[in-house]
Amino acid sequence: MSTYPDPTPTSSRDDRKKVSVPAVKAAKGSGTPLVMTTAYDAATARIADLGGADMILVGDSLGMVVLGREDTLKVTLDEMVHHTKAVTSQNPKALVVGDMPFLSYHVSREETVRNAGRLIQEGGAECVKIEGGRKRLRMIGALLDAEIPVMGHIGLTPQSVNAMGGFKVQGKVLEQAEALLGDAAALAEAGVFAIVLEGVPAELAGIITQDVDVPTIGIGAGAACDGQVLVIHDLLGLTSGHVPKFVRQYADLGTQAVQAMTAFAEDVRTGAFPSREESYALPEDVAGALGTLVSD
Ligand code: KIV
Repeated sequence: MSTYPDPTPTSSRDDRKKVSVPAVKAAKGSGTPLVMTTAYDAATARIADLGGADMILVGDSLGMVVLGREDTLKVTLDEMVHHTKAVTSQNPKALVVGDMPFLSYHVSREETVRNAGRLIQEGGAECVKIEGGRKRLRMIGALLDAEIPVMGHIGLTPQSVNAMGGFKVQGKVLEQAEALLGDAAALAEAGVFAIVLEGVPAELAGIITQDVDVPTIGIGAGAACDGQVLVIHDLLGLTSGHVPKFVRQYADLGTQAVQAMTAFAEDVRTGAFPSREESYALPEDVAGALGTLVSD
């Protein structure tokens, strides 16, 4: 995206049909896995949408991959609204899911609806995602009563990092696996339109996927899910440090970006940038009037 407005309307760049919540729900069992990625601003929203994502999650992973924090816990609702607005400014064809940050859906039903309402009204999201299983049913009911579609998220829920004692795969022991099965069934019964399964053994994700009538979207949950999600910085190779084993990097944009920056710095320092062609010329009459000689 240039720093000047692109005159091409988004619709002529992408003539796909707008993806809706019912369309996502109906994709269960269609045989074509759903594609979701995250986006946090206009540039990543355009990449996700032009690349054909069905859903764009404005994830609270924002706190880590964009804002450089250790975890997602300090992400505020204001930050989420701000970044959701940037994503929806691009009018993506993908369904935009606004992630409810920590403590925005824990206190009361009223506060939960007001907070989700901000992601919809101010941010332009079409639905929200909340972390947690059966303990969230009251809040999910309140959101659905307010006509706000909800995506569930169970397994390794990053907002529970302190309770879990770290970012640990969930469901490896029988009681945990049974609890996750119960949570998924309860969420589907309550009316969520899809469930993210994060950091769950592939076999368990497969059983949950067979057991519920809404699509499961996996991240570190194997191939049996109805769809897959990856954080866009991870799949584009823009994150540094430890890369979890479930991430497939489809590009190495981080390395390319540093190479580009290095070349720019070199060109500026040697005077190779900008060239005459990359500069604006003063009209000759003006140059003459100014007593300046314009060379070709
Ligand atoms: O915040 C996020 O990016 C997420 C995905 C990892 C599912 O919740």
